[in-house]
Amino acid sequence: MTRPKTKILVDGGDPQETRRVKELLGFVDGQTTNPSLIAKNPHIRELIASGHKLSKKEEMDEYRKIVQTISPLVGDAGVSIEVFSDQKTTAQEMLDQGREMFLWIPNAYIKYPCTAEGLRAAQMSVRQGMRVNMTLCFSQQQAAAVYAATKGTKEPVYVSPFVGRLDDIGQNGMDVMRNIKRIFLKGDGHVLVLAVSIRGLEHLLYCFVLETELATVPAKILEQWASKNFPMPDKQFHYRALGKPIPYEELDLEQAWEAFDIQHGLTRQGIEKFAADYRATLSRPA
Ligand code: E4P
Repeated sequence: MTRPKTKILVDGGDPQETRRVKELLGFVDGQTTNPSLIAKNPHIRELIASGHKLSKKEEMDEYRKIVQTISPLVGDAGVSIEVFSDQKTTAQEMLDQGREMFLWIPNAYIKYPCTAEGLRAAQMSVRQGMRVNMTLCFSQQQAAAVYAATKGTKEPVYVSPFVGRLDDIGQNGMDVMRNIKRIFLKGDGHVLVLAVSIRGLEHLLYCFVLETELATVPAKILEQWASKNFPMPDKQFHYRALGKPIPYEELDLEQAWEAFDIQHGLTRQGIEKFAADYRATLSRPA
């Protein structure tokens, strides 16, 4: 296979799956996890099915064990670990979780949401030398705010635009990715674009065309890619966008992050869903 320039991460919460993909591809550059994917981990599902709901500490321990198993399987794109947050979680509370999670493995990226509190947590994290991955990004303004909040970082920062969830609401999710890539051409390169919420091979191949730095992909799509003998987009490749185009916005990346409009309904919904999936594994709600 021709190894793409885009780094390939597995989007999941099951080390066995990561192993399987690594055998198929010969490599896995990294891994992303989130509370919904961790709740689907086979061992956690078994525990819940047997009637054993977890304490908050047990949940954290299980999450830690999962990422510690995955960590040595992947390359330099690391393992993204997501903090618990709901609408009330403060930046300091996110940072406290992030600092603990960052010590779990040597190649951690801490995921914070693209909200004001998440951006504050990221700003404090990069000042302390942590690697971060800003999740639940649905707009170019949110990505610009990530850029501004993490300026001066010594470590790479990821921003994760959610392609599939934008497609789901009738927009062309890939446009957001393209727009973010374009605005970042004006920047200093400290934020790398990680395509997430990838729903099919078309998405993946278009990431290769756009040369997104990274893409995280569910195992079943990577298995499909392998079963077709790892096709790569050729000059004729045409991405069939079904959703409404999202226009490019000219923004000044040198502004303070607070100057950007970071509100997005899907960010709010995403936080609620992650929080609900996390809480469903607990004996006593967080
Ligand atoms: C990865 O970081 C994201 O959490 C994940 O890709 C979300 O995918 P989904 O929109 O299919 O839930």
